[in-house]
Amino acid sequence: MLSLTKVLLGFGLVFQTNAFVLQFRNPTTCCSLLGAEFQGDTEPKVFSNTPLHASEYESLSTYWTPAARLNATCIFTPTDAQDVSRAVRLFTRKNCQFAIRSGGHSYNPGWAGITNGVLVSLSKLNTISYDPETGHANVGAGNRWTDVYGALLQHNVTVLGGRNSDLGVGGYLTGGGISYYANDRGWATDNIFSVEIVLADGNIITANRNEHKELFRCIKGGSNNYGVITKFVLETVDASKPFNAFAIGYSAAANPEYLSQAYDYCTGGSDADPKSHIIFAASISKAAGFANGLLVSYSDVFDTANPAPVLSPFFDGTIPGMTAMGPLSANGTIKIATDLLSFVQAPGTRYAMGTFSVYADAALFQTMRDIWEEETTTQLKDRPGFMTEFAFQPIGWKWLAASAARGGNSFGITKPLVMVWVQPRWDLASDDDIMVAYTDRVRIRCEQAAQAVGKFAKFRHLNYGGRNQRNEIIPSFGAANVLRMQVNKVRYDPLNVFGRLVPGGFKIPGF
Ligand SMILES: Cc1cc2nc3c(=O)[nH]c(=O)nc-3n(C[C@H](O)[C@H](O)[C@H](O)COP(=O)(O)OP(=O)(O)OC[C@H]3O[C@@H](n4cnc5c(N)ncnc54)[C@H](O)[C@@H]3O)c2cc1C
Ligand SMILES: *[C@@H]1O[C@H](CO)[C@@H](O)[C@H](O)[C@H]1NC(C)=O
Ligand SMILES: *[C@@H]1O[C@H](CO)[C@@H](O)[C@H](O)[C@H]1NC(C)=O
Ligand SMILES: *[C@@H]1O[C@H](CO)[C@@H](O)[C@H](O)[C@H]1NC(C)=O
Repeated sequence: MLSLTKVLLGFGLVFQTNAFVLQFRNPTTCCSLLGAEFQGDTEPKVFSNTPLHASEYESLSTYWTPAARLNATCIFTPTDAQDVSRAVRLFTRKNCQFAIRSGGHSYNPGWAGITNGVLVSLSKLNTISYDPETGHANVGAGNRWTDVYGALLQHNVTVLGGRNSDLGVGGYLTGGGISYYANDRGWATDNIFSVEIVLADGNIITANRNEHKELFRCIKGGSNNYGVITKFVLETVDASKPFNAFAIGYSAAANPEYLSQAYDYCTGGSDADPKSHIIFAASISKAAGFANGLLVSYSDVFDTANPAPVLSPFFDGTIPGMTAMGPLSANGTIKIATDLLSFVQAPGTRYAMGTFSVYADAALFQTMRDIWEEETTTQLKDRPGFMTEFAFQPIGWKWLAASAARGGNSFGITKPLVMVWVQPRWDLASDDDIMVAYTDRVRIRCEQAAQAVGKFAKFRHLNYGGRNQRNEIIPSFGAANVLRMQVNKVRYDPLNVFGRLVPGGFKIPGF
């Protein structure tokens, strides 16, 4: 251990010296060099915001939330891993800064975008195939889940992916990924069989539970810290049975029963029937006021008049004041449900996000919602387009067992917990700062309330991390995981290309 720490410290010093001595290359020069490198290719792959490429540049600059948009010096659209390798080699050699984007659903500006640098947009790495022999799906890292689900359903299989089908596979899978199958199969990232990754030196390698196995484990939660992942080989799930999902609303008056049922589901319900899945999400807006909501799914035949026992209380009137109940998919498919959600959560609106976790506690659930309501002031509610959501999502024993059975990940979760997130929406760019500050206030006050009753769980889901949580996501995975990630960082990216030259995203401490 001592020698490893020494090695790390040694590298830390080297990085500091490098960062001090080496200037980053002028981004315009980087774009010219990249243009020259790919000049011979039949299709154009480098787009600057010039009259010639203005429309391509604009469409490639679209993010799910405009609050995350930055305008890169140029945008590079590789069509295979070789292209990525050539570009990364050039960036490393020339000291060019860049960003990596798959679906562009990150909430935070600069996570999958960059102002002075090259944006590597993976959208053309979009092959999808299924191998019935192995039962594995091969998925290019620039796909969106809607296309993946569509292609795989032809084979009566699916994969663990977004509950909103517009998400990209790259960010989602490297950050964890909560899917409708999580209670049965763990994180989506646990269901990766292998990855193809381009390392800082341009080498294209395969990592799985046998080859580069330490790196493979680090990637499950490692985001963009080790390389550009160009392909995922995924374990599949049988999808020959129908898939059901519903959105349900209950009035504010139902709070006690709603929270009591939420507590029960978070402390055994999800384990009792892992075909079930629930997000407990309340919302506040000026027009609709306070509403309790559920997004509930069942990965089998489901009858709302005679539901699976664990879901019965949510349909049978145990929670009074049901105000709405609508199917996202009624005996349909995962694609129908997730396409509908992506339609509801349409791109083009400003959003922010903040997340933390607690151990289930009925009184704490109420306290946290009180804090959230209190911080949601009249002034905020009056802002154009304002809506805020506050959600609970349990991780139970079966989820954790499924992760362990697949070799483990970077997250360091050892017992059931409840992930919590706060997500405001608004219209005006001029309100960005007050909305981000609001998100942070709610989060920090709730964390303090959880700490005060000994129920704070330090894990934070990377995919839901806010811009001001940059230094607290990966550290929340715990010392042993952080150390493994650091050791493998030195091994696989000794010059810290994916920290120094890729400034955006959640980074490993010291890098
Ligand atoms: C409306 C909405 C619904 C959501 N629903 C869910 C949900 O159900 N479950 C869930 O878990 N999360 C959900 N999320 C969060 C989502 O998982 C993250 O936003 C995730 O980052 C999206 O992936 P992406 O590829 O679109 O991200 P991007 O914004 O493209 O990338 C995110 C980060 O990953 C890095 N990255 C992306 N691809 C690669 C790659 N191939 N190699 C290396 N680094 C890469 C980027 O550099 C960036 O830092 C939701 C988000 C939104 C906005
Ligand atoms: C990016 O460019 C668009 C279109 O020119 C502009 O509206 C937007 O404000 C720019 N964004 C940033 C962050 O500079
Ligand atoms: C998928 O399942 C349906 C219904 O069970 C069946 O009719 C169809 O042949 C299956 N398709 C494949 C490719 O197995
Ligand atoms: C699904 O089909 C079953 C019969 O197979 C039926 O009882 C049930 O009501 C259907 N569910 C929905 C949501 O339509």
